[in-house]
Amino acid sequence: MSNPPNTVSGSQSRWEEAFLRFETPEQERRKFEGRLRKLGAADWPRNSEIVDLFCGRGQNLVVLQTMGFTRLEGVDLSPNLLGRYSGPARMIQADCRDLPLPDASRDIVVVQGGLHHLPGFPQDLDRVLDSILRILRPDGRLVLIEPWDTPFLRFVLFCSGISLARILWPPLDAFHVMVEEETPLYQKWLGNPEVILARLRSRFGTEILDIGWGRIAFVGRPKA
Ligand SMILES: C[S@@+](CC[C@H](N)C(=O)[O-])C[C@H]1O[C@@H](n2cnc3c(N)ncnc32)[C@H](O)[C@@H]1O
Repeated sequence: MSNPPNTVSGSQSRWEEAFLRFETPEQERRKFEGRLRKLGAADWPRNSEIVDLFCGRGQNLVVLQTMGFTRLEGVDLSPNLLGRYSGPARMIQADCRDLPLPDASRDIVVVQGGLHHLPGFPQDLDRVLDSILRILRPDGRLVLIEPWDTPFLRFVLFCSGISLARILWPPLDAFHVMVEEETPLYQKWLGNPEVILARLRSRFGTEILDIGWGRIAFVGRPKA
């Protein structure tokens, strides 16, 4: 298996080190729970088979478990991040561009901040969206949250370029390092909103589309 874009085999990359100090697991869980509830997760059947792609250290899975979901899986390339999860979900080390899961076998696929890491744009985006479409049941759902070019994100990016601001607020320094490590992928992602939306809309009917505060939230159903 090839190395994850953000990891060095057997060690912790600069990006991972910054990611792990950007937010505590508790802060991540609070953020994920707020997002999931806003996107209707409280109404999803509790026996749904849910896969969290690009799951990192799995805090989204912890939240889903506390909400009563029991059939949970996480997929990520990084053994270092996967190894930090502790809980009942099945954790799979794999590339989300080529998911090792059967066709039409899952009810909900969640992605929170993974697509903007893919090295090939837009072909890797197509590969992941096609993989998601393949593993979802016909009445399944994609729940997606990714960074988006909004005035708020531009302001945060501006502030993260100021060294005094990074000293005064350490999470901003972690954010700065992550952006440095993700560039130019991050810039390519932020610079192509229409391409991304067209790719989503060609495969999924839109249930929710909410853009603001530096994020896109999209919930869609596979198109027949
Ligand atoms: C920004 S983190 C998001 C983690 C988690 N979803 C969260 O919001 O905290 C992106 C994650 O994607 C993973 N990743 C990057 N490319 C990947 C790929 N092609 N397949 C699977 N995971 C990948 C990285 O290892 C990292 O854990």
